[in-house]
Amino acid sequence: MTAPVRNSASSIIRVALGARAYDIVIGRGTLASLGARMAVLRPGARAAIVTDENVAEHHLAAARHALAGAGIEATTVMVAPGEGSKSMATFERVCEELIAARIERNDLVVALGGGVIGDLAGFAASTVRRGLDFIQVPTTLLAQVDSSVGGKTGINSRHGKNLIGAFHQPALVIADTALLDTLPPRQFRAGYAEVAKYGLLGDADFFAWLETNWQDVFAGGPARERAIAVSCRSKADIVAHDERETGDRALLNLGHTFGHALEAAAGFSDRLLHGEAVAIGMALAFEFSARRGLCASQDAARVTRHLAAVGLPSSIADLDRKPGTGELMDLIAQDKKVRRGALTFILVRGIGQSFVASDVAAQEVRAFLEEKIAGS
Ligand code: GLY
Repeated sequence: MTAPVRNSASSIIRVALGARAYDIVIGRGTLASLGARMAVLRPGARAAIVTDENVAEHHLAAARHALAGAGIEATTVMVAPGEGSKSMATFERVCEELIAARIERNDLVVALGGGVIGDLAGFAASTVRRGLDFIQVPTTLLAQVDSSVGGKTGINSRHGKNLIGAFHQPALVIADTALLDTLPPRQFRAGYAEVAKYGLLGDADFFAWLETNWQDVFAGGPARERAIAVSCRSKADIVAHDERETGDRALLNLGHTFGHALEAAAGFSDRLLHGEAVAIGMALAFEFSARRGLCASQDAARVTRHLAAVGLPSSIADLDRKPGTGELMDLIAQDKKVRRGALTFILVRGIGQSFVASDVAAQEVRAFLEEKIAGS
């Protein structure tokens, strides 16, 4: 008999994408409802869980138990933890294992892990048998509030990150906030940068709430759930209006142009996690906006103060190696393609007031970075 779907203390957010619409189920213990929800979504389907060795140690048994409780047969595809798994070789192996396990069009792939697993498993699902549906079960804060929602899937090329991929929306996202209890504090903090991003890009009240309540978000409980739900609601709204990033979805990249360059300069390594780079990138985006007279310098100072208060790096001075201006400008140009000397950036008119600026002179960015690096 199919186990009942437990709704207690969970919030459900709908990503309104017509025929590709789906729910994000957020709450403590929601992983236990995976099998029941899958049985409702796709009666009779089998599951292939794609996960990594670290996540498997903590959460695979619970995921398998939830599926078994609904009578769902599951196979597991295991990959090595880390960004290195977003490679052509691992992608090929995952596809071959899904085919060998006879996962068919009516079956479901379950991505159980952080952003690497979601991107890799989602991309494999988008191509095997010309497209399988998949469920995201994000196990990091960053994946719960960002990468598991919105359908961006992919792997890395030798030329850069995420250059091979597809838009492939999940059929369901289950964000069990209790899974975050086992995250190392540094990983949780890095994910928190993306939570703060939603306040900074479009919701000043949410940012003010975070300034007061961030310690409760870190501690777990209702404040954590609220922060994740507000973040997912914000992302769901943006994605519903601009699935393919032809307009406002780009606002989700606040802090990411500077951030990606810093991350690349640190060799995409544990020296600087993605969320940490985004934290510095957001502080720089506010300072750059203030320098251009777009936003009050008090707002920029407030952003830096909050990021520093939670223990995130918030300036170039916080890096273990100071990058060169030329190095950062080369990386920004690779990431964003300079058009006649102009770059596209997400800038701000204040907290919660971001916009896409496609007329930013590369020379101005260079001068700003020179000042920041010299002063750090
Ligand atoms: N992480 C940015 C986006 O999903 O568009």
